[in-house]
Amino acid sequence: MTSFQAQIKAGIPEEIPPKQALDPEINHAPRRKDILNAEEKQLALKNALRYFPKAQHGELIKEFYQELKEYGRIYMYRYRPEYEIKARHLDDFPHQSKQAAGIMLMLSNNLDYAVAQHPHELITYGGNGAVFQNWAQYLLCMQYLSEMTDEQTLVLYSGHPMGLFPSHKDAPRVVVSNGMMIPNYSKPDDWERFNALGVTQFGQMTAGSFMYIGPQGIVHGTTITVLNAGRKIGLSDLGGKLFVTAGLGGMSGAQPKAAKIAGAVSITAEINSKATHTRHAQGWVDEVYQDLDELLSRTKEAQANKEAISLVYQGNVVDLWEKLARESFKVELGSDQTSLHNPWAGGYYPADLSLEESNRMMAEEPEKFKKAVQETLRRHVEAINKLCDEGMYFFDYGNAFLLEASRAGADIMEGNKFKYPSYVQDIMGPMCFDYGFGPFRWVCASNDPKDLKETDRIATEVLAKMAAEAPKEIKQQIEDNLKWIRQAEENKLVVGSQARILYADAEGRIRIAEAFNKAVANGTISAPVILGRDHHDVSGTDSPYRETSNIYDGSQFTADMAIQNVIGDSFRGASWVSIHNGGGVGWGEVINGGFGMMLDGSEDSDRRLKSMLHWDVNNGIARRNWARNEGAIYAIKRAMEAEPRLKVTVPNLVDDKDLENLF
Ligand SMILES: NC(=O)c1ccc[n+]([C@@H]2O[C@H](COP(=O)([O-])OP(=O)(O)OC[C@H]3O[C@@H](n4cnc5c(N)ncnc54)[C@H](O)[C@@H]3O)[C@@H](O)[C@H]2O)c1
Repeated sequence: MTSFQAQIKAGIPEEIPPKQALDPEINHAPRRKDILNAEEKQLALKNALRYFPKAQHGELIKEFYQELKEYGRIYMYRYRPEYEIKARHLDDFPHQSKQAAGIMLMLSNNLDYAVAQHPHELITYGGNGAVFQNWAQYLLCMQYLSEMTDEQTLVLYSGHPMGLFPSHKDAPRVVVSNGMMIPNYSKPDDWERFNALGVTQFGQMTAGSFMYIGPQGIVHGTTITVLNAGRKIGLSDLGGKLFVTAGLGGMSGAQPKAAKIAGAVSITAEINSKATHTRHAQGWVDEVYQDLDELLSRTKEAQANKEAISLVYQGNVVDLWEKLARESFKVELGSDQTSLHNPWAGGYYPADLSLEESNRMMAEEPEKFKKAVQETLRRHVEAINKLCDEGMYFFDYGNAFLLEASRAGADIMEGNKFKYPSYVQDIMGPMCFDYGFGPFRWVCASNDPKDLKETDRIATEVLAKMAAEAPKEIKQQIEDNLKWIRQAEENKLVVGSQARILYADAEGRIRIAEAFNKAVANGTISAPVILGRDHHDVSGTDSPYRETSNIYDGSQFTADMAIQNVIGDSFRGASWVSIHNGGGVGWGEVINGGFGMMLDGSEDSDRRLKSMLHWDVNNGIARRNWARNEGAIYAIKRAMEAEPRLKVTVPNLVDDKDLENLF
């Protein structure tokens, strides 16, 4: 047994490990709001000490109290293991169950320094997207996974491993729930309070579900979005056209890369120089400017030469937009990906304040900080409105920009509707989700790039066949993804695990998965393949301002689909399932679910993949069809023709004239 394996099997060490100083080289989570009263602080300490024997409490209590005072949370820094946390070959993880080893690989990837936003605080992306609340939970979870068999299920309550429970081979090996609250306790400050108490966490979408694959997932989604945004305004070629946005963080960092793949010139503003540095060092952005005049003259040159290039403005996005508006600079496409789902705790930085001053103010003077954010949002919208009047197409990219701008009193409403569409309303919903196209991803459990190359080849072969046979309604979607997968290797998208993503419908996902399973069985792929998706999908997520923003029958404020999805996946063969409150647009604003599934080349895997993937997509199409979405009515009828056991209720459409006569 290697020392790495021995440490995992040991779980929480018997002896208290040495104290670790805070590493200034690492990007740390901002200090959280001091929200607990004295009594609640005692409760938070009692809660944290539950993981350790009584004899150690005297030594640990002072340190944990210090962490609570200094950072607003108890992370238990000294328990961070000394080995490198990253994706490895699944056999390197000590295990009795291959599926459990696959889950260790996936969650380790979410905490890899090259992947995670604030690895020491166990945050993968989005400022607060947590894998676990503290290091004790990580250690305990890894220990349970290392010892569990295929007849047990590990239950995780917001990062806390409740324990191993007897189950059976077809059951999920892990069931994850994150941030599930009694609905009346789901306001942003409830997250602050209950997270500080150590009883809940914000799992985002793929952070607490172990399905994050670095920025590749969003590079793909953004490429498809930017291409289709261009098509919406009649641009089939984005050469020389300008896309302006903000954010180079965990997900937003994908925007410049995606715009480049789509062939555009892009400017992305980023206030945090550490985030800019990371993306620049990775080669995901080409040139960085602090001077707006220099930046704009370089932009003009790039447009004239039709360079596909990603430029960065190192500064506040509002300064950039105001400059563009003052100069009436021609911008074809505009968006924003600051973390507005988390506006009061570091997701959105106000103009005219340094990063340090903002960080201090949000912790020490939260009301003043809130005012500064809202004032900046009003300025932000004013500049965007001017450019849109001059022809720009602006879309909300799923970060709650429109929602928070409206709450800030910005000029963003037309009657009771937002002035601008969310990208799901205009693009992703009607063009992709309603037809079942969504983020299908996989990770090679060998951690070997050769296997990834082989899976790319297989997926290309399947999609090329499908494109040749496809009806016109879905041909473009398949062709965009075929182009994407053909270029995927040369675009060097892998950060962390050997992972790939593309959009496919139910048929595409099943056909690709079947082909992978066969390749694992005959040894063409050297180890199992782990399937999954992000929660930003056809069926997994109920989110009225994002994934379900193109549902117009009133049911966009219900969450039955996400819950049904996870329950359905769990008894159809998923290796793990997860259900979360929050994610993308914020705590209390969305319920989202996901799954992971290991294909080990067996007949069992073949049976499970067909059953589960079919449900995982068609559940959402059925619901979208019931909401009268045209594409979904088409897609569900087609699915019923292909599978006689599927029988879905189809809506009768009402003639609007009948209603008009009534009122
Ligand atoms: N559309 C989608 O599919 C999708 C997917 C994932 C995430 N999201 C949402 O997008 C947002 C961004 O996600 P992320 O993971 O990149 O978050 P992040 O916090 O890692 O990155 C946001 C970046 O914006 C920068 N920023 C904040 N205010 C700024 C300002 N005023 N000017 C310039 N830069 C500023 C921050 O410094 C940070 O680097 C989140 O709200 C997330 O929920 C959308």
